[in-house]
Amino acid sequence: MTIHYGGDYNPEQWPREIWDADYAAFDEAGVTTLTLGVFAWAHLQPAEGTYDFALLDAIVGRATAEGRRIVMATPSGAMPPWLAQGYPGACRVDFEGRRHLYGQRHNHCPSSPDFRRLSVELAGRLAARYSDNPAIVAWHVGNEYGGACYCDACAEAFREWLRARYTTLERLNDAWTTLFWSHVFTSFDQIVPPTALSEHWRGPDHTAFQGITLDYRRFMSDALLGGFVAEKAAIREHVADTPVTTNFMGLYQPVDYHRWAQHLDLVSWDNYPPHDTPLRTAARMALTHDAMRGLRAGEPFWVMEQTPSVTASRDVNPVQRPGVLALRTWQSVAHGADATLYFQMRQSRGACEKYHGAVLDHSGRTDTRAFREVASLGADLARLGDATIGARTPARVALLLDWDSWWALELSDGPNRNVRYVDVLSTYYRAVWAANAPVDVVPVTTRLDAYDVVIAPALHMVKGDLAARLDAFVRRGGSLVTSFLSGRVDEDDNAFLGHGVLDGLLGLRVEETDAQPPEVANPVELVLDGRTTLHDGRHVFEVLVPDDASVVGRYTADFYAGTAAVTRAVRGSGDAWYVATSLDDAAVASIMTSVLEQHGLLGPHADVEGLEITERVSPTGERIQFVLNHGTTPATVSSQVAGTDALTGLVVRRGDLLTLAPAQVLVLRP
Ligand code: GLA
Ligand code: ZN
Repeated sequence: MTIHYGGDYNPEQWPREIWDADYAAFDEAGVTTLTLGVFAWAHLQPAEGTYDFALLDAIVGRATAEGRRIVMATPSGAMPPWLAQGYPGACRVDFEGRRHLYGQRHNHCPSSPDFRRLSVELAGRLAARYSDNPAIVAWHVGNEYGGACYCDACAEAFREWLRARYTTLERLNDAWTTLFWSHVFTSFDQIVPPTALSEHWRGPDHTAFQGITLDYRRFMSDALLGGFVAEKAAIREHVADTPVTTNFMGLYQPVDYHRWAQHLDLVSWDNYPPHDTPLRTAARMALTHDAMRGLRAGEPFWVMEQTPSVTASRDVNPVQRPGVLALRTWQSVAHGADATLYFQMRQSRGACEKYHGAVLDHSGRTDTRAFREVASLGADLARLGDATIGARTPARVALLLDWDSWWALELSDGPNRNVRYVDVLSTYYRAVWAANAPVDVVPVTTRLDAYDVVIAPALHMVKGDLAARLDAFVRRGGSLVTSFLSGRVDEDDNAFLGHGVLDGLLGLRVEETDAQPPEVANPVELVLDGRTTLHDGRHVFEVLVPDDASVVGRYTADFYAGTAAVTRAVRGSGDAWYVATSLDDAAVASIMTSVLEQHGLLGPHADVEGLEITERVSPTGERIQFVLNHGTTPATVSSQVAGTDALTGLVVRRGDLLTLAPAQVLVLRP
């Protein structure tokens, strides 16, 4: 098996003459793999009880005959009109309480028994029909599960979910702190979903009771998962072991992918990076790849979608600059992707994605820049062959990612709505990424034994035995770096009483938490490794009372000037760092560099901006090094390894000077 290369292909939208041209182009581009049938429901089932597989048979038959591998989709991402007409309950009720009419996609009510029955029935029929097709390499259930429904069926399912979680109302009332504002529930039937009509005011993040809103998020994530699990079970009745997946959306807040991942056979995700500076975008993609790899304990993942050229859904949609497609694709492989697929192979003629980029645009030509870049990348991927398939990423640094903390932090009234969880994580991630130290982005339940450094920024909620495990991790020699607003609440989002759950480990307590608007900075003086530097702290300023923690940084302004802003406590043979404000990138980089250095984890050429160097280790033990220049100028560095560039055949000895043009990539095999 080689890296899957190709993408979503919807030839049903095109006259058949065009199919010939498509395959000729696919050959030219080295396309190995096609995702079929993602939005096929309307033609597969024109009415309830009426099935018509003729068109999909032709599409699948042609792809098979052309020697392509197939990712076979179930079409539940978009329901046909007859379904909504016959079963209005399959449409969602939104946060404002409005029942939606037929339209759009990704909008079914996860508690609708009719939608469930019909989608599962169709998934089963598809699986039965194509189960013996050896070209199918994966099943792709639905599409980009997300959003939320607040209908009566969901309300009932929520109450069931609560009964299972809490058993008694007493436990539920305690978890939600319902004595506050006289909300004590005396029957499960009194509980309604948290919406604009009930607990919320300014929108989905502003709730009077975090407990109910947090549980609704957990419930909705589980409810959507129920649909996936049911379709997967229907597929498994006919298909023994072909992996079943669905395409995730990276750091997507509404769905807790940690709760989902165990139900998938492989993780796949759609990479549409936010627009930012090239380096910040590259770091954000690296973070997301690492988070997706962390969903299933470091297993390689698939990039199920990326655009070959341009998106259409944003207000302004710049095209990807020359070379950037290959750079981004290699970055995904460098971080663990065993498949890199496009949305989509041929551009839509109409509707809202007619300007979304595709391998073949409306002209159908192969002499376009986008096509040439796709084809040259296809040739390069073919050159690499199967070298990286199944390869792991060796990391000694873990960054904790937790949906519950994300939800709790951003649902919270106070101290500062401008603190965004992923922004805080990104700042710490960028520092380690820039130092070329590989990072696993992992759930809080992960065993920490394999790591030397654990970064837990904005770990608002500390659940289960996590505090004890962090303590043990530090005492046996690890370094923990955590930040403001960490360790504040328990699993129910209630504050810890007496002392903070991490106070003993950190050697301090937080006495007050000041917050300021984004334009206000409190300069923090950092004294690290004999150097004194001044940086901006923003958003949140915790006033610390150190116990036995030593002070590494101090605020320099306001009534808490001179008090601790960054601390380090030695515990056993390790240490626990605390950063009490949102420090700028340079400050976080200094702290993280110092921590990494302490463990000998600074990666190669950590000082060269924009140069990313990372590694994968194949199942046979081959170490493959990726060198990527995300910078806008050439980078010249000495090679840290001996090897041959899989893309150009260039032979490199250890210590040789390498010059990488902007966007250039080397894939060095020993
Ligand atoms: C998503 C969807 C695709 C398509 C692309 C366009 O990722 O899964 O169907 O809409 O976006 O960017
Ligand atoms: Zn619903």
